[in-house]
Amino acid sequence: MKDAGPQPIYLKDYTPPAYLVDDVHLTFQLSPNTTRVISRVRFCKNPDAASAEFFLHGEDLRLMWAKIDGVSIAPDVTEKGLTCDVPANAFTWEAEVEIDPANNTALEGLYMSNGMYCTQCEAEGFRKITYFPDRPDVMAVYTVRIESDLPVLLSNGNPTVSGAGFAEWHDPWPKPSYLFALVAGDLIPTSDQFTTASGKDVALNIYARKGDETKCAYALDALKRSMTWDENVYGREYDLDIFNIVAVDDFNAGAMENKGLNIFNSAYVLASPETATDANFESIEAVIAHEYFHNWTGNRITCRDWFQLCLKEGLTVFRDQQFTGDMRSKAVKRIDDAVALRAYQFREDNGPLAHPVRPESFVEINNFYTATVYEKGAEVIGMLKRLVGDEKYAEALDLYFTRHDGDAATIEDWLAVFEDVTGRDMTQFKRWYTQAGTPRITVTDSFENGTYTLKLTQETRPTPGQPDKKPQVIPVAIGLLAPDGTEVVPTTMLELTEDAQSFTFEGLTEKPVPSILRDFSAPVIINHDQDTKTRAFLLAHDTDPFNRWEAGHALATEVVMRMVTDDVAPDPAFLDGLAAVMRDDNLDPAFRARIVGEMPRQDDIAQRLFEQGRTPDPMAIYRTFETLKVQIALHLQDITPRIYAAMQVPGSYSPAADAAGKRSLGNIALSLMSRLDGGKQAAQQYATADNMTQQLAALSALLKQGGGADQRADFFQQWRHEKLVMDKWFAVQVGTAAPEDAAATVKSLTKHPLFDMRNPNRFRAVLGAFSGNAAGFHMADGSGYNLLADWLIKLDPVNPQTAARMTTAFDSWKRYDANRQAHMVAALQRILKNPEISGDVAEMITRLLD
Ligand code: ARG
Ligand code: ZN
Repeated sequence: MKDAGPQPIYLKDYTPPAYLVDDVHLTFQLSPNTTRVISRVRFCKNPDAASAEFFLHGEDLRLMWAKIDGVSIAPDVTEKGLTCDVPANAFTWEAEVEIDPANNTALEGLYMSNGMYCTQCEAEGFRKITYFPDRPDVMAVYTVRIESDLPVLLSNGNPTVSGAGFAEWHDPWPKPSYLFALVAGDLIPTSDQFTTASGKDVALNIYARKGDETKCAYALDALKRSMTWDENVYGREYDLDIFNIVAVDDFNAGAMENKGLNIFNSAYVLASPETATDANFESIEAVIAHEYFHNWTGNRITCRDWFQLCLKEGLTVFRDQQFTGDMRSKAVKRIDDAVALRAYQFREDNGPLAHPVRPESFVEINNFYTATVYEKGAEVIGMLKRLVGDEKYAEALDLYFTRHDGDAATIEDWLAVFEDVTGRDMTQFKRWYTQAGTPRITVTDSFENGTYTLKLTQETRPTPGQPDKKPQVIPVAIGLLAPDGTEVVPTTMLELTEDAQSFTFEGLTEKPVPSILRDFSAPVIINHDQDTKTRAFLLAHDTDPFNRWEAGHALATEVVMRMVTDDVAPDPAFLDGLAAVMRDDNLDPAFRARIVGEMPRQDDIAQRLFEQGRTPDPMAIYRTFETLKVQIALHLQDITPRIYAAMQVPGSYSPAADAAGKRSLGNIALSLMSRLDGGKQAAQQYATADNMTQQLAALSALLKQGGGADQRADFFQQWRHEKLVMDKWFAVQVGTAAPEDAAATVKSLTKHPLFDMRNPNRFRAVLGAFSGNAAGFHMADGSGYNLLADWLIKLDPVNPQTAARMTTAFDSWKRYDANRQAHMVAALQRILKNPEISGDVAEMITRLLD
């Protein structure tokens, strides 16, 4: 019989750990192929556990010896861990294992990157370092000794003793094993210090490879701002003498919040004006903040089990979004977050991978670090805050921190603090955590005798394993505008709790224009038949900046849809609306850039067509956008050169929001101009740019027009020793390739000497950019699907986590024509038949094909 493969585990089966750990002593004798890890762990029986079976997780470990209370034992060892008989009372476990970090290409556990040792343990990587109860509800105090000749030896907590060839660290805060970290390498620190509100001095260091130490200043500044913000806004202080960050080039995720020793993908730390774009600076600021904020929401209070992942991730994303909103423009941040949510999370909710914010089962937890858990998880926190109000939210958070400090907590614990602070029953709200799918709200309205009635109905479609959905509590922020543009009802929060509900507003003289879901008050889809004129009116008059953008975005979507379905020219009213926004110097340039530059995504148009019962043709959608962009460029051609000139920021580069906003609008003007001038302006910008934002935008505009060969070569020569810049060089070529050239571009770039599939950033720069080139990926002959499948099959045995993540490119296969569907299913089945397939990828493909 065929092996059924790894079985799912269920939230409902949770049981407390049989043994608890008081403290852990680890000694690492580092060596590339034969690192020895000696552990000494003090265990005691958990009085709350039913079972007395002693089980330690352990994978890919060579057990050299093991002892209990100093007596050698021979445990029962399997591929997943070991068991043995243990005393009834507290006892000491000791063991020595050998591991091979140099050959650890999965980048999970202890591995090597450019000669440095580093770790990634979340979620279940610690079991690849030593035998241990590798689950987040086992929290312990760690003492670590590292033996190596490398100059920098780091672990969690505070440094204690060090000398020639060794260093010791002690972390006084009990933590789960997933927060363990170790780094050893020839690294250069960039240092500063921070004094907390209560006067405690903290040493701050960002460690990077030689040559990269010149690119750490911005991250260090962002760290200090994060520390101050968390004190001011959440009353949370840092709790160790030292906070270290290390930049690592080979890293599966963005970064990791290990206690006192955050480890980062270097893409989210290293920045200089010459090598990083404005968008890079902004995401560095956000990720630095995110990982720092985890110290309280994640580390001091952690998760009981991995089903509760959103407890730390949703809340921490919400906190980093608030931080960015405070550092930059709140309105623009909200737009960016809504755009990303719709692009990734709504898409996930609409397809075979849909799952609740708190999943009920999984095979491989690494497959659940998703937009749903993170970004929808953050939206759920935002809705809670809207429903209870800012003051009660602050009270609830204070209670959460005092009540659960030191705990491994659950979503039930989290909701209980809101119930206790507000007296409100959270039973219905909890559906946001348990029900998958994006609620759709239909809006209809009427006006009679001075009374305006707004009728809202909600519906959530079936998702895998959840055929029937119950109504959710949805905070719908609305405002009403009089036909002359004045606001007659300011922002008001409606609570939609039933399947259908009516809300009335009295004493109005004429029928108002409603502005629905202001500030994107809930992660839902609004179905509201508004005509072009009303949308143009809201684009001009809405007082809510999010909905002003939304009106423009809805207009653009409507225009594109009509162009695709009826083969008509873009509506001139829409083009006039864009011109009016572009010209309006009272509007923040970043906000104008979002309205004029943020076109609907090709993928969204495909989904809309599908929902209308049509079969989307990715090539037709692509061509429509090409036509539309030329039309916009023509319509705005009298304005763009002036805007372009006005947006040039004099003086030396600053990554601050206002300068970045100007460059963003300037680059939109440039891309429009490039559609008409054969790349003249872009070539000039390329030649004179003193920062990556403008250099890359110019290169991109040139390549997009089918030119730029010289600049492409020049860029390579200038930057070939800068890994992060080379990632951009790879990605921009794939992203700008015409659909029929995209696969060939990928094929030639994967043969480039600097292509290395073992580096996740580089792999994503090429293959990730390829699935982002929608029309190229979806070529009707299936060549795109086959190419991606070939590479995922190659990558899987090397790095299952990254391979599994990238299978999501196939998650919309059911939308397309029979021919494309057949090609996609065949590609997925080919991946599934790979004899070397990992559990990670197998789970993803199985769900995709379901
Ligand atoms: N906790 C990390 C963060 O949110 C991400 C860890 C990713 N781990 C994984 N297995 N995908 O910043
Ligand atoms: Zn996180």
